[in-house]
Amino acid sequence: MTVNTSILIFGASGDLSHRKLIPALFNLYLKKRLPKDFRIFGVATRAWSDEDLRQTCHTSLLELWSEPIDETAWLHFSQKITYRSGDFSDPLTYNRFNQELSAMENGAANRMYYLATPPDFFSLIVNGLAAEQMLDEKEGWRRVVIEKPFGADLPSARGLNIMLHEVLQEKQVFRIDHYLGKETVQNILVARFANTIFEPVWNRNYIENVQITVAETVGVETRGKYYEKAGVVRDMFQNHLLQLLTLVAMEPTSSSNADALRDEKVKVISAIRPIAESDVKKHTVRGQYRGYRNEPNVASDSQTATYAAFRFFIDNWRWQGVPFYLRSGKKLKEKISEIIIQFKSPPHMIFPNRTCLEAPSNLFSMSLQPDEGIHIQFEAKVPDTLADTKSVRMDYHYRDEFGPSPLPEAYERLLLDVINGDASLFTRADQTELSWELIDPILRGWQSPDAPPLSFYDPGEWGPIESNQLLDTAGHRWMQIGDDNCH
Ligand SMILES: NC(=O)c1ccc[n+]([C@@H]2O[C@H](COP(=O)([O-])OP(=O)(O)OC[C@H]3O[C@@H](n4cnc5c(N)ncnc54)[C@H](OP(=O)(O)O)[C@@H]3O)[C@@H](O)[C@H]2O)c1
Repeated sequence: MTVNTSILIFGASGDLSHRKLIPALFNLYLKKRLPKDFRIFGVATRAWSDEDLRQTCHTSLLELWSEPIDETAWLHFSQKITYRSGDFSDPLTYNRFNQELSAMENGAANRMYYLATPPDFFSLIVNGLAAEQMLDEKEGWRRVVIEKPFGADLPSARGLNIMLHEVLQEKQVFRIDHYLGKETVQNILVARFANTIFEPVWNRNYIENVQITVAETVGVETRGKYYEKAGVVRDMFQNHLLQLLTLVAMEPTSSSNADALRDEKVKVISAIRPIAESDVKKHTVRGQYRGYRNEPNVASDSQTATYAAFRFFIDNWRWQGVPFYLRSGKKLKEKISEIIIQFKSPPHMIFPNRTCLEAPSNLFSMSLQPDEGIHIQFEAKVPDTLADTKSVRMDYHYRDEFGPSPLPEAYERLLLDVINGDASLFTRADQTELSWELIDPILRGWQSPDAPPLSFYDPGEWGPIESNQLLDTAGHRWMQIGDDNCH
């Protein structure tokens, strides 16, 4: 098999390309994980030279990397980068790139096409590639990486899938959700399925509820125009939060084969009880941070949610009756991505001295960022008391075990997986559509008279007060490791 490989980045002058993709490729180069004979061919509108793109990427590396850059290696690597300007809406562009790329390849070569462009261009580019037979696999594989967002609702996601399947086989399509490239996210499955101590209690008999939080401290900054249309649900829930939920809730697979894994994810998503439009008030909260309406490119009467919380149930034997609480928002108190499993309280507490009215519950937390690790909170006896108990914790941090910078960037792993043809960490067509099937009725419900009110919160809070009420009704509350979980 040929190792001659071209990586063609559409949107090479953009933020994603020089802040994430090219640094990730450089890291793979330093680790000698890229094919022996490779090149990066970047295209975008602006009239840049090769050197302009190389220089922009170098500046990003200087800004982003805490370690000094191996300048000799960068010099060698950067010589592999070519930049050409062109308009994606001009059909001649593709022919021109194809000819130039073929001359550089000088024979059979594999090709990755990375669509680092606004989503409006996804169909246009894939059709442009198809028209020039640039997707034929006669002379090596052809793989197309599609960035998020994948559609804006079910019809658009379905339309995009139909269009892709007209010119590509599903195995050529890599729908990226960079969350899945994070080590800490992959470790959810390792923690669950490479150990035997957790799985026996990972079900409705022992788990009281599951809480998934992806919180940001920043606001929309310069992305007001995009965010006004997307809002927090399209931006975070349809992809990242539902992905996390599937990893927590899915059944073990019989192998690590990409489709075996993706089949199990699809089964979980299919089992999530949809929240009907008429039930959105009962199961969802929508909020907006104060000051959002003054952000650039945001309407002064904007109804866009910058915060949301959902309560989902999964209708299967493992999870029946266990609430899955999901929340995400901007301008919240802390930047944190975390999964908390709250276990049921002991059925009968024989240590009555504690100030708690009810028996405390154990917590298991998987912290994805910034405190990457796993924590267990359990009760221990307070020394020199008769039988007082106190919540204490056991902590695992990646940095303690594997050194200060053990975690590669998500894009590093994902780009390598595309080169190796491993789609395990990419979203299959059916999963994207099932996710939208869950999200669409909620968004429609939010437009209806049954919508929950848009609740406002101050920057630096944990969202609107209503998000606590969503849990209160079941006697739950949002938890963090270290909290006193005495009710
Ligand atoms: N940035 C991130 O961290 C991030 C994270 C997750 C997902 N994403 C997704 O990644 C994609 C790219 O995001 P981004 O932040 O990099 O966007 P961006 O900074 O706006 O970059 C867009 C790129 O597309 C090029 N482009 C736009 N119209 C074009 C046309 N008609 N012909 C040729 N080139 C054209 C632009 O070229 P010129 O500027 O030269 O015109 C630029 O290189 C989006 O789908 C986004 O949702 C981004």
